[in-house]
Amino acid sequence: MYKTISLLWVRLLMSLIFLFGEVHVSAFLGITWGRSSAQTFVPSMVVDLLLQNGISDMRIFQPSLNVLDAFANTDIAITITLQPNYLANVKEQKHIDNFLYERVKSYVDKGVKFRYVYVGNEPFLKVTTSKKRVNADVHFLNMTRYALDSFNFPDIKVTTPHFTDCLLNVTKPSEGDFREDIKEKMIEMIDYIDKTGGPFVLNIFPIYTVSRYGFDVEFSFFDNKSKFKIVDGNNIYKNVFTFLYDTLVSALTKAGYGQMEIVIGQIGWPTDGYMSASEENAERFYRGLFQYMAKKKGTPLRPNRDISMYVISLTDENTNSLESGAYMRHWGIYKLDGKPKYKIDFTMQDRETKPTAARGIVKMPKRWCVFDGKTDHNKTLVVQDYEYACDDSDCSAFGAGASCDNLSFVQQVSYAYNMRYQMENQNQQKCNLIGAMLTTVNPSTPNCDFPIEILTAEFVDGGSLLTKRF
Ligand SMILES: *[C@@H]1O[C@H](CO)[C@@H](O)[C@H](O)[C@H]1NC(C)=O
Ligand SMILES: *[C@@H]1O[C@H](CO)[C@@H](O)[C@H](O)[C@H]1NC(C)=O
Ligand SMILES: *[C@@H]1O[C@H](CO)[C@@H](O)[C@H](O)[C@H]1NC(C)=O
Ligand SMILES: *[C@@H]1O[C@H](CO)[C@@H](O)[C@H](O)[C@H]1NC(C)=O
Ligand SMILES: *[C@@H]1O[C@H](CO)[C@@H](O)[C@H](O)[C@H]1NC(C)=O
Repeated sequence: MYKTISLLWVRLLMSLIFLFGEVHVSAFLGITWGRSSAQTFVPSMVVDLLLQNGISDMRIFQPSLNVLDAFANTDIAITITLQPNYLANVKEQKHIDNFLYERVKSYVDKGVKFRYVYVGNEPFLKVTTSKKRVNADVHFLNMTRYALDSFNFPDIKVTTPHFTDCLLNVTKPSEGDFREDIKEKMIEMIDYIDKTGGPFVLNIFPIYTVSRYGFDVEFSFFDNKSKFKIVDGNNIYKNVFTFLYDTLVSALTKAGYGQMEIVIGQIGWPTDGYMSASEENAERFYRGLFQYMAKKKGTPLRPNRDISMYVISLTDENTNSLESGAYMRHWGIYKLDGKPKYKIDFTMQDRETKPTAARGIVKMPKRWCVFDGKTDHNKTLVVQDYEYACDDSDCSAFGAGASCDNLSFVQQVSYAYNMRYQMENQNQQKCNLIGAMLTTVNPSTPNCDFPIEILTAEFVDGGSLLTKRF
């Protein structure tokens, strides 16, 4: 009896859904998980974190098999990326067919949910476009779409994420347009993505934009404390997010795609490595961002919108590229030891609460490799070893305004020696530099943490060259 009734309800609901053509789902809040660090969380730990915090979506940077495995039957939607280093080896359709069969089709069969396949990554980045590396284009997008269609996955959309420097450097959103040197290729790509139902994905790093444009850093935040604002006709912009979003809306409108859906591919605030990169500011940034998003007010050019976004990032990445700045290693909402850094409420109810700590993390023993500080060492050689240790590990907390910017010389050498030792899993052979010694006394200062890394038990993907690093 109950069964009959519930079946009836299901049928009724289904017919309602078909009646209205589509289920109108609200926007999603996702998080990115980059794994460019010496020790990474075990994928099942990450699933646990997302479930505990009610996060529905995750973007990963490589479709590594062991990561996908952990997401079976979780209802967390995954976005994967076909990285440029992968695309460079794609010569014909069957390469993409086979890859997506292995990494999407067979995982859908196992109960993994996919939202987007990103083809390439930020292909029009100003610093790399001149280098002519293989990256996303319509050809690769089409091959990916073709493969997904052959598996009958019309709901997994293909698109490519773009960085804000695909837009002209303008003073008002209404002047928004794509950069001249990439405009033709960009519009060709937009046309394809739009026709096949994908969104325009824009990555926004407010800390980068305010410094590049020379804006007041307060303009990054959503709490109206910025004295600087941008007046554009009747519209007033009080923060960099609405400014950039509407600049993109103008660019899309001029290209003839004014209605195209926009998804924020990455947005966040780093906690170290740069002036104003701090836990306090990250907490403040997300609080304002989520309050603003929860109101679904949209922007002056697109009012009353529920905006989908991925926040960057789950954890710090101590081997991430430093090309755009030291803060690129400090996006994590979690530290590398699985502890949350600050308060953030992923349910967007503005609760004053820290997310739950990762469960099942085991830290390595309380042991540090430090410089003994003796003055009879040859200083030239000490400096050489210090620089070597930094290059081989992570000294991104040293820059001006960063957490370790005022260490003494001896402390700096210790920090570098220790980072190398920790990132090499406390291998004693790595504490073999001039004047190096092991200690059980924590050398951290009030501002500068000398971290102990975690034990990682992760088996990465059979060690394939393409996916190993991620
Ligand atoms: C996409 O691929 C299909 C099948 O190979 C082809 O017929 C079509 O012309 C392609 N479209 C574009 C825009 O390249
Ligand atoms: C961008 O424009 C601002 C003025 O709006 C200017 O100060 C800044 O130097 C420009 N940056 C670049 C990289 O062109
Ligand atoms: C900022 O100002 C806008 C109106 O200009 C208002 O809707 C919003 O609530 C304010 N936000 C805060 C945090 O004061
Ligand atoms: C320190 O080492 C450098 C490089 O090996 C060498 O050139 C220099 O003579 C040494 N200085 C002293 C005081 O031994
Ligand atoms: C470093 O600066 C902080 C404040 O920014 C201060 O509290 C601390 O004492 C300084 N440490 C050293 C070693 O100067």
